[in-house]
Amino acid sequence: MRKLTNILVTGGAGFIGSNFIHYLFKDTDFDGRIINMDSLTYAGNPENLTEIDENFGGSRFFFEKADIRDYDAAEAVFKKYDVDTVIHFAAESHVDRSIFGPKDFIDTNISGTFSLLEIARSFWENRDNVLFHHISTDEVFGSLGDTGFFYENTPYDPRSPYSASKASSDHLVRAYNHTYGLPVTLSNCSNNYGPYQFPEKLIPVMIMNIKEEKPLPVYGDGKNIRDWLYVNDHNSAVWAIVNSGKTGETYNIGGENEWENIKLVNVLCEKMAVFLNKDKEYYKKLITYVKDRPGHDRRYAINCDKIKKELGWKQSVDFNAGLERTVQWYLQNQDWIDHVRSGDYRNWIEKNYSGR
Ligand code: NAD
Ligand code: DAU
Repeated sequence: MRKLTNILVTGGAGFIGSNFIHYLFKDTDFDGRIINMDSLTYAGNPENLTEIDENFGGSRFFFEKADIRDYDAAEAVFKKYDVDTVIHFAAESHVDRSIFGPKDFIDTNISGTFSLLEIARSFWENRDNVLFHHISTDEVFGSLGDTGFFYENTPYDPRSPYSASKASSDHLVRAYNHTYGLPVTLSNCSNNYGPYQFPEKLIPVMIMNIKEEKPLPVYGDGKNIRDWLYVNDHNSAVWAIVNSGKTGETYNIGGENEWENIKLVNVLCEKMAVFLNKDKEYYKKLITYVKDRPGHDRRYAINCDKIKKELGWKQSVDFNAGLERTVQWYLQNQDWIDHVRSGDYRNWIEKNYSGR
């Protein structure tokens, strides 16, 4: 087990990062400090962490509004808190946005990661007990046909600006380990779902639109396949790697839970009908096939035997229970939805999606 004391979480105000911080305080025995560094893009919402801030703010939890691309600002955070561990979630994360406007993805995901690596390399020179953990995605491996899985050694074949930017950052992280000996670990995970996911991704879009009785936009023929994992199962995997993963290694994380998009949307209609006491067929009639995402990857499927065998991790949340928990969370948190939809999100949707 590594001794972790001052953990810098980048992107901790986003979907997975904020769930990760909740997870650390509530579900682990970690007793050190967490520093959340986030520039608060449209996807970052510090309200996700209000409860943590109320209970631990100023003693074990700290928030620093800073951009990972700003070397001086980020370096100051390393120095101020004597950071010994980085868990790097911060990124532009939405594939559709990367198609409409790739530049932010190149800047944040590649240049931002490069900047953090440079800071870590210099700040940690000649230090032991330090670790840079890089969060990545299964999308770097490309797209599968009807069979097969992504393994840790599957050659990279990114096909969207988002996945190409993540692939590039993964290569940089490995290069810093190989060339400079920077202690790193990496993880490549499949599609996450759960509370606090920004309502631009498939599951929250569908929950929101079903509730508001709006069309449910299914891209293409709806038969693209994704492997879904409850967000805290991703977080427990990351925690296992950060504590016990081998330096220099990559671990795949996945749900072993493949769903065609159209089947998943139908299940959401059925679940929402139960919660809202409505007719499921009425909701299903809202399903609308729309123009496909350009370059839409067909199927992702992760083999995660390595982390299971080497670190004893496994998924703990059954998909049925996880989906119900997620639907309930969105139904009970309309204020949160209204808030995150009030600014940039609405403008962006208007600009890019009108007429689709
Ligand atoms: P998100 O978009 O919900 O959150 C990203 C966070 O990063 C936001 O809080 C945002 O403000 C912050 N951020 C963005 N640019 C920044 C910058 N330049 N400086 C500082 N902060 C910045 O993303 P997410 O879905 O939580 O994904 C987190 C990480 O996990 C990403 O690296 C993503 O590639 C990876 N990932 C996501 C999934 C998924 O299903 N969502 C699956 C596998 C891997
Ligand atoms: O696989 C991991 C990746 O999963 C992460 O790296 C990304 O950060 C994350 O956004 C996610 O990418 P996807 O493109 O798979 O997620 P998204 O929710 O955007 O789409 C899931 C599938 O649903 C995909 O096949 C596109 C489709 N879709 C999506 C939306 C938003 C629709 O059919 N309709 C929609 O409205």
